[in-house]
Amino acid sequence: MREFAGKVAVVTGGASGIGRGIVLACARAGMHTVVGDVDPVGAQTVAEEAELVGPRSLAVATDVTDPAAVEALADKTWAEFGRCHLVCNNAGVAVARPLAETSLEDWSWTLQVNLMGVVHGVSSFVPRLKIQGEPAHVVNTASMSGHLATPLLGAYTASKYAIVGLSECLKLELDDHPVGVSVLCPGPVATRIGDAGRNRPQALGQAAPIPIELRDALAGGMDAERAGRIVLRGIAEDEFWIFSHPELQPAVDARSGGIAAAFDRWREWMAGEG
Ligand SMILES: NC(=O)c1ccc[n+]([C@@H]2O[C@H](COP(=O)([O-])OP(=O)(O)OC[C@H]3O[C@@H](n4cnc5c(N)ncnc54)[C@H](O)[C@@H]3O)[C@@H](O)[C@H]2O)c1
Repeated sequence: MREFAGKVAVVTGGASGIGRGIVLACARAGMHTVVGDVDPVGAQTVAEEAELVGPRSLAVATDVTDPAAVEALADKTWAEFGRCHLVCNNAGVAVARPLAETSLEDWSWTLQVNLMGVVHGVSSFVPRLKIQGEPAHVVNTASMSGHLATPLLGAYTASKYAIVGLSECLKLELDDHPVGVSVLCPGPVATRIGDAGRNRPQALGQAAPIPIELRDALAGGMDAERAGRIVLRGIAEDEFWIFSHPELQPAVDARSGGIAAAFDRWREWMAGEG
């Protein structure tokens, strides 16, 4: 999708951080925007910001863990704008605990938001985009934690590897449709994810505080509006992999090299078995 002006973008987790950055980049490119977020006040604030730099913006209170809420987000988008061209399944949370101390509540929250939130977005929007038949694009937010094991972020890492796999399948399945797919894999971006517990359902108990080193790494990360501009560039180029931190490539290469070396060992061992 190369033309953005006059088109319609939906961004979940649009009230803060990278989602807000994507909303503002879309608005500046002339797109109408729909800001879906579990934080209705934040969503309304970002929708107002978007209208200062672009055309119409609609805030929709949306908990992505609830399939009915995501379906309602799609209904409201088509009711308001009649069409939709970009869906960014971006809402996400993080729990920082060693795996042995990660509670089932932590797992449930992480997977419900980070994985099922994307699943619900795909289920509610992709069939409609296929029927609509116009050029469109889906961006799923993973992370470099979808490529690299990140200690203390085991549940988060599991959810993000899942998003990479889901997105690779979706890309193959939409090959015959004018619907592009990208997976966004940022390194550290300065956002409020270090305070993700602010959106945790009370029934799941309090989130463990994110360690200060992780908070510092995030605070020193990329500007979230720049991340939003990078996403738009990725869509315009129909680039499946959207990377914001090319300096992390050697770590991914080292992982791939380790897998290749394991294949070599197994080839040798199995050949010896006859
Ligand atoms: N910040 C980083 O360094 C970084 C790096 C890689 C990937 N990411 C990913 O980027 C995405 C955005 O995170 P961010 O860093 O901008 O954090 P953020 O906390 O600033 O923004 C996340 C947004 O998601 C919303 N949200 C949380 N739970 C929700 C739910 N159940 N339903 C709907 N909205 C919900 C929050 O209200 C918030 O507006 C996440 O998927 C995150 O995993 C972030």
